[in-house]
Amino acid sequence: MVVTINPGLESEETIRGVCADLSSLLRGVGFRDLEGQLSCVMGFGSDAWDRLFGMPRPKELHPFREIRGVHTAVATPGDILFHIRAARMDLCFELATHIMSRLAGAVATVDEVHGFKYFDDRDLIGFVDGTENPVGQAAEAATLVGPEDSGFAGGSYVIVQKYLHDLERWNKVPVEEQENIIGRHKLSDIEQPDSVKKPYAHSVLTSIEENGEQLQIVRDNMPFGEVGKGEFGTYFIGYARSPRRIEKMLENMFIGNPPGTYDHLLDFSRAVTGGLFFAPTATFLDDVDPERQPVAAVDAKQAQAPEPLPNERPGDGSLGIGSLKKEAEHE
Ligand code: HEM
Repeated sequence: MVVTINPGLESEETIRGVCADLSSLLRGVGFRDLEGQLSCVMGFGSDAWDRLFGMPRPKELHPFREIRGVHTAVATPGDILFHIRAARMDLCFELATHIMSRLAGAVATVDEVHGFKYFDDRDLIGFVDGTENPVGQAAEAATLVGPEDSGFAGGSYVIVQKYLHDLERWNKVPVEEQENIIGRHKLSDIEQPDSVKKPYAHSVLTSIEENGEQLQIVRDNMPFGEVGKGEFGTYFIGYARSPRRIEKMLENMFIGNPPGTYDHLLDFSRAVTGGLFFAPTATFLDDVDPERQPVAAVDAKQAQAPEPLPNERPGDGSLGIGSLKKEAEHE
């Protein structure tokens, strides 16, 4: 679920209250079936972070940057992301219901996608999705912020994009060419040998390196759709310790590497949303004080407090600074 924050300090206080109570809500719903493995990640967009928490802020948090290449990776509105997962849909639904009832009036939902597991972890284009994800320690090293931003260590950057597939056209493409587009065999999920891999293959363009070392991310793509509407999609969810990794992959996919050698999967899959969020640790969320306004906003209020000098017009002066200004921009 992606939501935007409604105007007003009251909305912000309500949201901070949900941050502090999220782990309790999660325990309440999750305990009804521990084997259901209910989890919830809460991520914040760049502007939302300033409104809710102010300084300090995660070093690399910025709004999602649209990429215009052969195809376009659009940037769409979104202040908060809830990534809710469980082995059972009812657990997800119940948690989402509690969260949203607590957030009533404070947010507007801009996107809600109910993904599902499709056979052996395939996406709706028929390929197994997630095979090359790092696991265990490698997954932690790929996704969790470390000493490079020690105040936010343990948090993670998340990029989400909603893709819609033109399945009718995709299904007319011979399987051999589909395999060239992904870089793996469809039925067996075995990787194509490097000697046959095409430069435009998805797995080639998303394999990136720095100083000879592969820069990995963890993906949690989910198929979704509505058959009656002819809607067939993949909700891309990528976690990384730096958003730069995912952005580089997106540049390779949409612009191409070299430019023009773009990801041919995009000829059949259109990105209709795009957002970048920072997901802080559960401890950070637990410690949020609902009444503590962002530092910049408190400063601005204090600056407002003294009596205006006789030659100053009432209300003049301090309103233009700090996050009160941001507040005004949002309204
Ligand atoms: C329409 C949306 C997408 C679909 C259907 C899709 C599907 C797939 C499939 C089938 C694979 C091969 C199996 C695997 O290793 O998981 C794969 C690999 C991969 N994808 Fe995607 N993907 C999509 C979007 C993206 C995006 C937006 C990114 C990153 C910005 C991305 C990053 C990767 C990476 C890093 C790999 C592993 C490459 C490797 O090391 O071989 N994917 N994807």
